[in-house]
Amino acid sequence: MNKTNYANIADRYDKNKYRNQISLDMDLLEFINSVQRRPVNILDLACGTGLYLNIQIPYFKNEAINWYGLDASPEMVDKMRRNVSGVDLKIGVAEDLAYESDFFDFICTNYAFHHFEDKGKVIKEAHRVLKPGGIFKIYNISIYDMQDWWIYQIFPTANDEDRKRFWKKEMIFQELAQSRFDVVLKMNYKREVVKLAKLMDYVYNRDISILTIY
Ligand SMILES: C[S@@+](CC[C@H](N)C(=O)[O-])C[C@H]1O[C@@H](n2cnc3c(N)ncnc32)[C@H](O)[C@@H]1O
Repeated sequence: MNKTNYANIADRYDKNKYRNQISLDMDLLEFINSVQRRPVNILDLACGTGLYLNIQIPYFKNEAINWYGLDASPEMVDKMRRNVSGVDLKIGVAEDLAYESDFFDFICTNYAFHHFEDKGKVIKEAHRVLKPGGIFKIYNISIYDMQDWWIYQIFPTANDEDRKRFWKKEMIFQELAQSRFDVVLKMNYKREVVKLAKLMDYVYNRDISILTIY
């Protein structure tokens, strides 16, 4: 399996307009409203440059929350350090989490699950470091449901490559259930016509991870 080298794209990463469409995480809001205990510990697993926490932290500024971020790429973490304050950051891999057991209340991982080389191990590690009743949220695109995505139309071999690294949603569901998670699968579907000229920005920028592999 080819790998995306985030050292090469860390500087351009935040310019991708797709990545800047983050808003308040309603699952996180619901969770914070539903638990009494404080403080709560929240981990952004494979946090990248901090786009997600940068948006969430201000929404919860009146709550007693300890924010954590972990990512394998020193360059991405370095960018995050400059972008977001108030987060305990670590460089490390999701397959081997340097946190004690039963520590986190909520773990999210955005657009990263396909990058994990040993996904089964990541699920086990997430289960270990989560407190009972905690939430592990995996948020990602579902490539098997978007075979006519413009990336795959223009770069067909990107689809072959993605099929090697993305698990089908059924597989993710099954592996989580086997690791004793109560699993809920939610999907949003959007289809739109986009003019080719509008896509050129993304292509020139080459910060969509599958494009950076080539
Ligand atoms: C597409 S980026 C997503 C970053 C961020 N979550 C976001 O939404 O912008 C994927 C991230 O996963 C990180 N990554 C890849 N493999 C990893 C691993 N095994 N453990 C931790 N982070 C990893 C990369 O360094 C990169 O920052």
